[in-house]
Amino acid sequence: MPQSALPSLFFLAVMMLLSTELDASQPKKPNIIFIIADDLGWNDVGFHGSNQIPTPNIDALAYSGVILNNYYVMPVCTPSRSALMTGMQHRVIFANEPWGLPLQEKLLPQYLREQGYKNHIVGKWHLGHFKKEYTPLYRGFDSHFGYWSGHQDYYDHTAQESLFYWGYDMRRNMNVSLDSRGKYTTTLLTEEAVKIVHDHNTSEPLFLYLAHLATHSANPYLPLQAPEEVVQKFSYIEDKDRRIFAAMLSLMDESVGEVTRALSEKGMLDDSIIIFTTDNGGPAGGFNLNAASNWPLRGVKDSLWEGGVRGAALIWSPLIKNTPRVSNQMIHIQDWLPTLLTAIGADSTLNKSAQLDGRDVWAAINDPAAQTYDELLLVIDNQRNLSALIKRKVDDIWKLSIGTIQNGKFDKRIGPCGRDHKYDWIALKECPVTKSIRKTKCPLPSSSIINDIRQAAEVSCQTEQGGKLFQRCHPELGEICLFNLKDDPCETNNLADKRRDIVDELFESLSEHNNTLVPPRNTPHDPASNPKCWDNVWTNWRDYPPPRLCETDLRRPKAESGQYTAELIS
Ligand SMILES: *[C@@H]1O[C@H](CO)[C@@H](O)[C@H](O)[C@H]1NC(C)=O
Ligand SMILES: *[C@@H]1O[C@H](CO)[C@@H](O)[C@H](O)[C@H]1NC(C)=O
Ligand SMILES: *[C@@H]1O[C@H](CO)[C@@H](O)[C@H](O)[C@H]1NC(C)=O
Ligand SMILES: *[C@@H]1O[C@H](CO)[C@@H](O)[C@H](O)[C@H]1NC(C)=O
Ligand SMILES: *[C@@H]1O[C@H](CO)[C@@H](O)[C@H](O)[C@H]1NC(C)=O
Repeated sequence: MPQSALPSLFFLAVMMLLSTELDASQPKKPNIIFIIADDLGWNDVGFHGSNQIPTPNIDALAYSGVILNNYYVMPVCTPSRSALMTGMQHRVIFANEPWGLPLQEKLLPQYLREQGYKNHIVGKWHLGHFKKEYTPLYRGFDSHFGYWSGHQDYYDHTAQESLFYWGYDMRRNMNVSLDSRGKYTTTLLTEEAVKIVHDHNTSEPLFLYLAHLATHSANPYLPLQAPEEVVQKFSYIEDKDRRIFAAMLSLMDESVGEVTRALSEKGMLDDSIIIFTTDNGGPAGGFNLNAASNWPLRGVKDSLWEGGVRGAALIWSPLIKNTPRVSNQMIHIQDWLPTLLTAIGADSTLNKSAQLDGRDVWAAINDPAAQTYDELLLVIDNQRNLSALIKRKVDDIWKLSIGTIQNGKFDKRIGPCGRDHKYDWIALKECPVTKSIRKTKCPLPSSSIINDIRQAAEVSCQTEQGGKLFQRCHPELGEICLFNLKDDPCETNNLADKRRDIVDELFESLSEHNNTLVPPRNTPHDPASNPKCWDNVWTNWRDYPPPRLCETDLRRPKAESGQYTAELIS
């Protein structure tokens, strides 16, 4: 070794020592536990005021964290999940369509991986699977246990799409997980999530994305499924569909408890951020063969009414200031990507020239006085002539919406209100979440504070008073609807005639958004996707040469029986 190399080697060693020291002094990045419920309605969680179906674990996180009470989602599933993963809006992917989230888009787990995170997805993907490059392991996740499509049977794990495509859909990483058959999906996903937490190396930060099947409908031939002994606990609910829904929901609530308990046992809670959110409004009153409730909000999943787009959500973390509280700041599911990157101190890694729809709301989550934004585009769907936008002006919150679904069949307030029961305080005080968070900086507050929080989180509707009658809106007749959500969150008084000025202004904003719209990427069904061609399994079919069976046109096979009459939107 030449002598002159010695000083520089010494220098290098010092630098290495210094840099490890620097690393050690850097606090570890917080864990992110993102739990997304499927098709859960506004009024299906106890913290919005319903007492019909106890959700003690979800409620306990809500009462000790921040309830996001003015939180919007996309009206259907893929758009919400892609908005979450990319910070941008997209459309629904059906399992038999050969497309996915564009590969050039960088997803949340890819950003997190750069920050040293271990990323695990448990449950539903639904962001494309026609080629392997579109599936979770190729998009930033270290493991996946769950399904690629939009829904499945809770026991046999098959997914039926567009009436005639029907196959098994459960994977462990890229392998088909046949040993899952017969076991309830929520139980399987919970066990997997708990195992991931227990096996996690706590010197690295964890991103656990737990995307539940519950409370989505299974296949049309048997849409609502739960173990009989759990359904029986809800014998006081008369409506049979709602009773099974209650069982599906309560098992998901228990799952939130199990995962939180596991985090506590691992000593991970103090530096964790837990988010619980629905993906879209609830399918109530038989929509999608389901029985959710958005009461007192109008409409259902897929609609522009508040019941379709205002979502149940909360964030809990000892790292958040000013907890517990109810936030009325406007927030959208597409905001999580930039918001979480700020929360973990990695916002500088965002590509500033890539235009995100989502905005960083971390300051607002920590500070009740901070406002978020004044304008929020909810939807522009030119194929179905549906669009909606919200704009805050001083103290008013205007919402313009155009068009409706199914000729207005689901425009009403649908689903039980659940106020004719008593709140289950014992379940709340004894549930796993309450026990697990007891020793953290955000324990369950006192009953009187909880009562205040529940009151603040409940939506109350404007009523007709003093002979002043409301102007109803009939979007199914082509009427444009304008509501002031500040006084009228239940969308009962159409002010479009009275405030032409506001209609014009919001319409102008909508047109501006419309001009920058990227055309939807949806593609027609590909008959080669048919599980019949692939051992009855949903697969990444475009990675293989088409099998011989698929040379025949399988688009219109005879229905095996008359029972498959409905098509679900996931
Ligand atoms: C997938 O299956 C292969 C072949 O049976 C096996 O070697 C591999 O360990 C499996 N991977 C997982 C993640 O189960
Ligand atoms: C845990 O992670 C740290 C940091 O990456 C690593 O040094 C250590 O070897 C890991 N421990 C185990 C048991 O894998
Ligand atoms: C940043 O985004 C712009 C616009 O989408 C894109 O052209 C560019 O390649 C991106 N840069 C990086 C480093 O990803
Ligand atoms: C779309 O809706 C608007 C408002 O309801 C109506 O004026 C227009 O005619 C509709 N367009 C189509 C193509 O249906
Ligand atoms: C958006 O533009 C398309 C044509 O470019 C038009 O048909 C549609 O009505 C517009 N939608 C809105 C909401 O302005």
